[in-house]
Formats: sequence, structure tokens, C-alpha cells
Amino acid sequence: MFAQEIIARKRDGFALSRDEIGQFVDGVVSGAFTDYQSSALLMAIVLRGMSEAETAWLTEAMMHSGRVADLSEISRPKVDKHSTGGVGDKVSLILAPLAAACGLCVPMMSGRGLGHTGGTLDKLDAIPGFRVDLDDAAYRRQLSEAHLALIGQSADMVPADRKLYALRDVTATVESIPLICASILSKKLAEGIDALVLDVKCGRGAFMKTEPEARELAEALVKISRGVGKPTSALITRMDQPLGKAVGNSLEVVEAIDCLKGKGPPDLMEVSYALVAEMLLLGGICQRPDEAEERMEAAITDGRALDAFRELVCAQGGDPAVIEDYGRFPRARERFELCYPGDAPAYLSKLDALAVGEAARLLGAGRAHAESEIDLAVGFVFRKKPGDRLQPGEVMAIIHYNDADKLEAAEARLQTALEYSPDKPEQPGLIIDRLS
Ligand code: URA
Repeated sequence: MFAQEIIARKRDGFALSRDEIGQFVDGVVSGAFTDYQSSALLMAIVLRGMSEAETAWLTEAMMHSGRVADLSEISRPKVDKHSTGGVGDKVSLILAPLAAACGLCVPMMSGRGLGHTGGTLDKLDAIPGFRVDLDDAAYRRQLSEAHLALIGQSADMVPADRKLYALRDVTATVESIPLICASILSKKLAEGIDALVLDVKCGRGAFMKTEPEARELAEALVKISRGVGKPTSALITRMDQPLGKAVGNSLEVVEAIDCLKGKGPPDLMEVSYALVAEMLLLGGICQRPDEAEERMEAAITDGRALDAFRELVCAQGGDPAVIEDYGRFPRARERFELCYPGDAPAYLSKLDALAVGEAARLLGAGRAHAESEIDLAVGFVFRKKPGDRLQPGEVMAIIHYNDADKLEAAEARLQTALEYSPDKPEQPGLIIDRLS
């Protein structure tokens, strides 16, 4: 069938067959579908939607558009997590070693940050020497020995998504549940996992701003992933304020290490524990949530989770001394104390995640464009979070910066993130729902 016939069928509201979807994905990779034909079909999908079966076929075709890792020689259950991304979301750095210390194998392939959210690979770049480009043999060896790896997607995996995502980005076709599901799941399923846990973030700092949108995406992801044979569960978690206290690459790695040392902030620990518990249940390591809780707490308390992180850093060429000596991370030259400007005591009632993420980008911690350079050292450490009491002149946050002009722009944006109230604000729960 000609490309234009497939486009016309979707334009006219018909469901595509498995063959037609396969032809599209093959054509995207081979070039037989030109960029303008692919873009036209993507727009038709955005406008007409896709059934569950079409979305599953698209996911499978994209997953098989390149190499699919075969980890069958690894005996441990292989379980990964995907987050739709948020501000201060360094959960992967805590979750992967913690889950490995609790008996799972975690083959995690991550991405770089764009816009107001950070990416795990950028955070890992803050560890001197750390390599995220392992070849297949090194990746598998590491998974057999250390039971975890945090790497970037190699060029031969899911090439269809790389091509399609670039087209979607510039043709206003990102916002489609079937396309998002196929994009996310094809990449995760190509890792060779046995099961998957999803953290679908919801709120001002998230991709999905409202609860109904987040729920729709979470339900679709779980349905499609289960439909293609992977045990899957999802948490919908709130992303109205940054997760934890640190935002910025080096600063977030330091906070993640603190979590593994048992000194993590409660919100970050709550989300990390909840997601690892899901992984342990899906992987069959634990049968009940309270058993998972005990196992995770023991792994933090007796240092096994931190040891797993150390093993990861060593295996991927990083400097393990950073774990004890935070001075070895890239450090900003200057600090600025952001103080509460009111003249009467109050509560911090809002710390808007979107504005914080944008302020971090203005400071240099994030990217405006895929090719932008980032400054690994800069960012914020919040001493106060919503619900905390403030005294006049009290320090609310420390801004780590290298460039005074960027500080000015970032501080101005950060001020828009903050709201104060004379009364203690209600803090809604972080975990909105669990879907399985
Ligand atoms: N993240 C992805 O990987 N793909 C999408 O389509 C959207 C978010």
C-alpha cells in the first residue's frame, strides 16, 4: 500500500491494520516514508486517535525497529521504572541502587533533560568520569555482576522513536495519548525487562497538568504495556512543587546520595519507596507492601543501597570518592541567599514547580534546545518548602551560580514561584493513585 493510502485511511477515521502500522514504522526507519508523509500521518493520528489494538501494534513495531536487548541469561527479575518527568526528580538515582540492593536487576535506559525538567543522564554527567554509553557486552556484563546499569539509549535501539519524536516536536504532534504511549513503552520494552513501573506525574511542573489528563495517560500506559505482555503498574504522583530540596544536576546527585545514606527529605523518600515497592511486588521479590517497606528500610540502614550505588559508579568509570567527598562534584563559584522578604512571620504556601524549573534553566542547569550546553554545578537548594514557617529575613533557598546575569534572570523567575500565607497551608498527599 502507498504511504498516501495509509495516511488517507487514518485521515478518514479508519483503524489501521497491524500491517499498515508495520509498513509505516519500517518506512520511517528506511526513509520510504518521507518526513512530510510521516508528519501527515502523525497529525491524522493526533486528530483521529488510535484504538488500543492500534496503539499496541505501533508500540511493538517501534520497539522492534531496532535492537531489542535479550537479558534472558540474567536470573534476577528485571524491572525498570519510567517517570514522565518533573522538577527535582532524581528518583532514578535512588530507586535503581535501592531496588538492586533488594534483589532486582534494574536495566535503566534514560534520557537527557529538555525545557524545565531535568534528565537522569545529565545528572549522571555530574559524577566525574561516569560513562553512560556502554556497549551491549559491557551493559550485559554489568547487569549480571552489579545488577543495575544507568545508560543512554544506544543508537541502534528504537530508531523509529528518535525519528518520530523529532518530527512530533516540530509539527505540534506530541500531544497524543497513543503516540506518547508508543514512544515511552517502545523504549522501555526494548530494554529486555520483565515488568515495568510508571510514575505519571501530575501538576504544574509535569507534562500532564491535570489529574484527568494524568489518569488518562497512566491508564493507557498500563493497558498497553500489560496488553503486550508486561506486568505493569503506575503511580500518579503530584508535581506541583519540586521533589526534594535540590534542583540542578550536581546538587541533585548529592541529595540522592544523602537519601541512600538515610538522610533524604520525606517527600523524595516517599515517592522513591512507593515506586521501589511496586517494583519489588511486580518482580515477585515481595508479596506485600509492608514486606517491601521492611526490605527497603533494611537496605538503606545497613548500607547495601549505598554500596549498590558505589558499585554502579565504579562499574561505569565514575569516581566513587564523590560519595564521601561532595567537594569533588562540579561546584558553582558563587552562592546567593534568597530571603523571605515579608516583615511579619508567614508560611510558604507555594513553590511552583514550573517556575522553579524555568528558573533553573535560566541559571544554566537545563536546556532550551536539544543542543544547548548545561552547567552541571548550578541550581537551587531550598531550605523551605510549602507549609514551612518563615521569619522576616530568613533564608529560603541558596542559589548556586556562576554567571551574575543568569542569576538575575533566574532569581526574578524564582520570585514568581513563591507565595506566602498567614495561615498554614494544607499539603495534599503526594501519591494520588495507584493503577495496576
Ligand atoms: N516522553 C517520551 O519519551 N515520548 C513522548 O512522546 C512523550 C514523553
